[in-house]
Amino acid sequence: MRLKIERIVLICAIAGLSACQSQQTEPAARGEAYFNSYGCVKCHAMGDKGGTYGPNLSFIGFRKSKDWLDMWLRNPHSWRPQTVMPNFHLNDETRTALVAYLSTQKGQAWADSGRPWNHPELKGDSVKRGEVLFNMAGCVACHSQNGRGGYPNNNVAGGQIPSLAKVFETYTKPELVNKIRGGVVPAPADPGAPLPMINMPKWGEVLKDEEISAVTDFLISLKPKGGAAKKDDW
Ligand code: HEC
Ligand code: HEC
Repeated sequence: MRLKIERIVLICAIAGLSACQSQQTEPAARGEAYFNSYGCVKCHAMGDKGGTYGPNLSFIGFRKSKDWLDMWLRNPHSWRPQTVMPNFHLNDETRTALVAYLSTQKGQAWADSGRPWNHPELKGDSVKRGEVLFNMAGCVACHSQNGRGGYPNNNVAGGQIPSLAKVFETYTKPELVNKIRGGVVPAPADPGAPLPMINMPKWGEVLKDEEISAVTDFLISLKPKGGAAKKDDW
């Protein structure tokens, strides 16, 4: 044991401090460092810190599986050819650490500042709170702007997550609240092929009923507008 530690110290001295730190810290901590050093934060925010060009990633570990994250970081264009997210050609160690970090993110980045849709200035405006929630909790990352749909999924009819336009007409508010609270497992188009990688998460695990009520009010407010997906939506 003693010998081993001495060897590590020696290797550290030769290889330089930064390489040494990266070997000794936890994968999630290394992933956080990569998230900052690779410029992910220029486009993505974690909590209130970072860019707004891509989706806010505070709930990324809740809404997307590790397998999906790994696939996405290997090559975003293989999942969505027109995505503006660059392919970083990450090596296995970096990608694995980033996935470890991202998959721990289940809203705790807002622990101190409060979730943006719960800020006092939005109090009383359920539709506006719901809109902020839709965008910041990441409904938008699967359902696109205003729920227009068009985001890819594998082995589902049409190859896409459908537009939410129909739900405004088909379901009552309590039915919608239940769907959002309990999640949806999409039916596979081909029972013999691998299951769809993207499920609708069980938001009841991380959102309070009154938060789900607000996002439902936002969805219902979209009813008259609807509209088809645009190519550059995410
Ligand atoms: C030039 C801006 C840009 C940079 C830099 C960038 N991304 Fe993205 N990223 C996006 C956009 C835009 C999307 C949504 C695109 C889509 O779905 O087509 C996205 C999507 C994602 C998603 C999926 C989000 C979700 O909720 O489904 C993850 C995870 C992600 N990026 C992680 C990263 C990581 C990690 C890095 C750094 C290695 C990074 N991104 C760098 C723009 C960027
Ligand atoms: C990780 C991707 C993902 C995220 C994030 C997501 N959804 Fe979904 N959602 C889906 C999928 C997939 C379906 C099922 C679509 C299908 O096969 O009919 C779905 C279905 C739904 C449905 C029911 C549609 C129907 O016809 O039954 C509603 C309503 C809905 N989502 C609202 C939301 C809201 C509100 C949020 C944010 C709080 C959200 N979704 C976040 C992927 C997602």
